[in-house]
Amino acid sequence: MSAPVIAIDGPSASGKGTIASRVAKRLGFHYLESGALYRLVALLSLREGTMQENRLVELAEEMDVLFDDGDILLGDEAVTEKVRSEPVGNRASEVAKVPGLRQALLRRQRAFRRPPGLVADGRDMGTVVFPDAELKVFLTASPEIRAERRYKQLIEKGIDANLRALSRDLRDRDERDAKRAVAPLVPAPDSQVLDSSALSIDEVVERIVGWCRERKLGGPA
Ligand code: CDP
Repeated sequence: MSAPVIAIDGPSASGKGTIASRVAKRLGFHYLESGALYRLVALLSLREGTMQENRLVELAEEMDVLFDDGDILLGDEAVTEKVRSEPVGNRASEVAKVPGLRQALLRRQRAFRRPPGLVADGRDMGTVVFPDAELKVFLTASPEIRAERRYKQLIEKGIDANLRALSRDLRDRDERDAKRAVAPLVPAPDSQVLDSSALSIDEVVERIVGWCRERKLGGPA
């Protein structure tokens, strides 16, 4: 029997990353931030100035990536900050439309499924990558709240940000993610939709961990 998966999907800045990594820690599960894989390909695509499907597929298959407790290494280069920047995020949602690239990343993503279990966050974890996930959560929040959260996140990191430009980018990214032909952002029919607009991070984590416990997922708290 393969290891259990908890899929957490949702739009930009819905808090998926923070929440999914905390849920993984609480359960003692592995964690996959699938967006980081798209962002890594985006970074390489920006560096090479290419959007050619064949080349994106090669980059995705060949990149030498290590996720190390929140840090991301590309070969021996630390790229954590670069990968999180807004230009890379915008490029990521462009490369994410390319069908061959999505296909190439499937195998890499599924390799994260190992005992005792996996918490995976992204856009298509419950619909495409792990359709047999034990628990699927679709995490969302209003566009205004998401733009504010992203703004605070960047300012805290000392990165200059403009709320109006961020709101516009988020809207554009939502639209591209929802309308693309391959793996568009939609809640899986068997997902639990969770609107976090009025909830704290702790409250969201508690709710999801509670759903896991009901399903007997994860080790002792
Ligand atoms: O931080 P944010 O939520 O905006 O993005 P992310 O989760 O880091 O993902 C960056 C981009 O990769 C998204 O805008 C999506 O277009 C794409 N993506 C995807 O298509 N499928 C996934 N499973 C994860 C990310």
